[in-house]
Amino acid sequence: MLPYASQRYTVTAALPYANGPIHIGHIAGAYLPAAIYADYLRMRGHEVAFICGSDEGGVPILLKARKEGVSPQVVIDRYHQRNKAAFERLGITFDIFHRTSSQRHHQIAADFFKTLHSKGILQAKSSKELYDKEAGLFLADRYVEGHCPHCNFAKAYGDQCESCGRSLDTTELISPRSTLTGSVPIERATKHWYFPLDRYADQLTEWISSKEKVWRSNAYGQCQSWLSQGLRARAITRDLNWGVPVPLQESNGKVLYVWFEAPIGYISATQAWAAKVGKDWRPFWQDKETKLIHFVGKDNIVFHCILFPAMLKAHGGYILPDYVAANEFMTLEGEKISTSRDHAVWIEDLLDQYPNQIDLLRYILCINAPEGKDSDFRWADLKERNNRELVAILGNFIHRVWAMIHNYEGGSVPRPDTLTASDKALIDAIGALPPKIGKAIES
Ligand code: 2FM
Ligand code: ZN
Repeated sequence: MLPYASQRYTVTAALPYANGPIHIGHIAGAYLPAAIYADYLRMRGHEVAFICGSDEGGVPILLKARKEGVSPQVVIDRYHQRNKAAFERLGITFDIFHRTSSQRHHQIAADFFKTLHSKGILQAKSSKELYDKEAGLFLADRYVEGHCPHCNFAKAYGDQCESCGRSLDTTELISPRSTLTGSVPIERATKHWYFPLDRYADQLTEWISSKEKVWRSNAYGQCQSWLSQGLRARAITRDLNWGVPVPLQESNGKVLYVWFEAPIGYISATQAWAAKVGKDWRPFWQDKETKLIHFVGKDNIVFHCILFPAMLKAHGGYILPDYVAANEFMTLEGEKISTSRDHAVWIEDLLDQYPNQIDLLRYILCINAPEGKDSDFRWADLKERNNRELVAILGNFIHRVWAMIHNYEGGSVPRPDTLTASDKALIDAIGALPPKIGKAIES
């Protein structure tokens, strides 16, 4: 009998871009904590939808494809399969690992946009944007950098200055440069649809304030900093030929901004899973009793705590996240993990190197997860923890119990009526552990 009432949970883990393999930082920062939590909830008898999938839109995929001289489809097919297999090998128990390139996702994301559009929420606006002639692309977000107009930091991105934290428009940057080609972009007129984030500022402020004592300080703090600077309308379309086409007549050559459609990917994945297992997807996103929990890295906080909740509110009918478990980053031997410099430990390699030692890998990445602050992965630490904690402590304990049962009890566990007072005390002490462990996992 369960001591608690069963509850419905929708647990999501950030959709990884299908432009490269998964590394230890991804696993320790988002996927393993999410999996431990989802498995724990299932063990407790709760109803759980544990949702993930490949994020297959946006510029990161295009760049990778260009670099390799192949089509974006080749890139996403490759990494979707490889990442899905790696998660499975590591025992990450998603109910579904979906794809944002699927027909279903395109339809659901387009419908979401159409609902906002038909409610008159979106604003269409023509403006001058930065264009990289060499790359043949408009430069948005992280693809352009320059001096911050507020604090003069030299490497401010087109969407945000990482020094003063202010959110920016690309055209506000002083001396902008393309991060794709290094060239100086020109200004070119284009039309986009904007989501009026500013209109939701009061509702978001009230909602996020209610999370002050509940969420970790990184998520709460980043949200407060965004809110205090004042929110403004954000373009939710891009000039690209890869992604979810904007579902309007006059929008040829435009796709939905990847950070608009990717979180909708959680909903489309839930729908795909529900259709497969014969469930109704709606309670998982629309029943106020359901707890929606997002697991993300700290670079994803603003999208999950501000943009996506505002979109859900604007659309109507959806619940908001109960908790956004945002982790810090894992470094490798004291240095930032970097895909471009190949300073990373790819999870596929780790699985190949330690076949049949999934528990060791999960233990190492879990015990050192970057929960409250950045953590560092060191090979010496893996060896040390394996030898000391798993072999010398846990292994030795199990071996001794085993040996004593054989040496003193004839190879079988003593019957309850033969237990001594100290046996009983030990059994009671062990029996008191699960609720304590549960509490720790929940918090
Ligand atoms: O940062 C990333 O890797 C993104 N692909 C995460 C997307 S999470 C969600 F919103 F889809
Ligand atoms: Zn700045």
